[in-house]
Amino acid sequence: MTDARGFENRVAFVTGAGNGIGREMARDVVRQGGKVAIADVDLAAAETAAAELGDAAMAVLCDVADEQSVQTAVDAAAERLGGIDVLVNNAGLHLMKWNVPVTSVTAEQWHQILGVNVVGVVNCARSARPYLARGKGPAILNLSSIAGYLSNTVYGITKLGVRGLTVALAEEFAPDGIRVNAVAPGAIGSDNAIDELSGQLRVLIDDMQLIHRMGRMADIVRPPPPPPPPPPPLLAAASGRSAAGQAAGGPAPGRTRGRTRGRAPVMRGCHAARLSRPGSR
Ligand SMILES: NC(=O)c1ccc[n+]([C@@H]2O[C@H](COP(=O)([O-])OP(=O)(O)OC[C@H]3O[C@@H](n4cnc5c(N)ncnc54)[C@H](O)[C@@H]3O)[C@@H](O)[C@H]2O)c1
Repeated sequence: MTDARGFENRVAFVTGAGNGIGREMARDVVRQGGKVAIADVDLAAAETAAAELGDAAMAVLCDVADEQSVQTAVDAAAERLGGIDVLVNNAGLHLMKWNVPVTSVTAEQWHQILGVNVVGVVNCARSARPYLARGKGPAILNLSSIAGYLSNTVYGITKLGVRGLTVALAEEFAPDGIRVNAVAPGAIGSDNAIDELSGQLRVLIDDMQLIHRMGRMADIVRPPPPPPPPPPPLLAAASGRSAAGQAAGGPAPGRTRGRTRGRAPVMRGCHAARLSRPGSR
């Protein structure tokens, strides 16, 4: 999510982090020196995920669709971990049950998915706001989806809603210096997605994505950085650059570095909403 050790002395509250993408994000926060609350309606999954991360992580029961459950979880996390600096609204219902025509589910089912995927984002943002406002580099990251651009299924409509909420929350929270952004991944190989989408994945990837391969966790959550290379033989310290006459690990002075071709992320795009005031935290 940020540079190495970018989470030092910071706390993230990640919803739906008992599994899949959220769990990988929680791992990344700890890899970067931060602490994380793994908030999930599936407490057993949250506890397993937290146990892997040791003291830097805590599991907390949280049903994002339930205002009181969210408030209790957010307060507990802030008290135990010393505040909340980043909220990741990752919890979501998706997979085949919800990738269906909009008139094919009942009103009750509509309320269920809207409660989690849309209202859940609002519940978490509202409860976390006072902590974020006092936080370090406060930010909210929402998980939309490529489906939010296609918007032709029940699920897609909810992820379109997340796009709208991202802009709305960015405006509302800007006075507190809280940045609000969203990512819109294509098909990402979380265990649940692979299990349930197996029959549909080829269609999703070949017909709907711009980049025709399954996304990996590392496309949206950085892999651990490689170990630093050994120092070049002529350089013993940073000031050795002038002693050796060339930049350590880079091209000689005066030459521009060639453009490196990075791995293309499997995303339709990132839609960044308005940022906080320039110069704010
Ligand atoms: N995997 C993909 O291909 C993909 C692509 C685009 C966007 N997304 C989005 O990314 C997010 C995570 O996807 P994933 O594949 O890791 O999902 P997943 O099914 O592996 O994990 C979702 C987690 O959310 C939790 N959850 C469900 N309802 C909850 C609730 N009411 N309160 C709290 N937690 C709840 C589940 O227990 C689970 O741990 C979702 O919002 C999804 O829509 C996924």
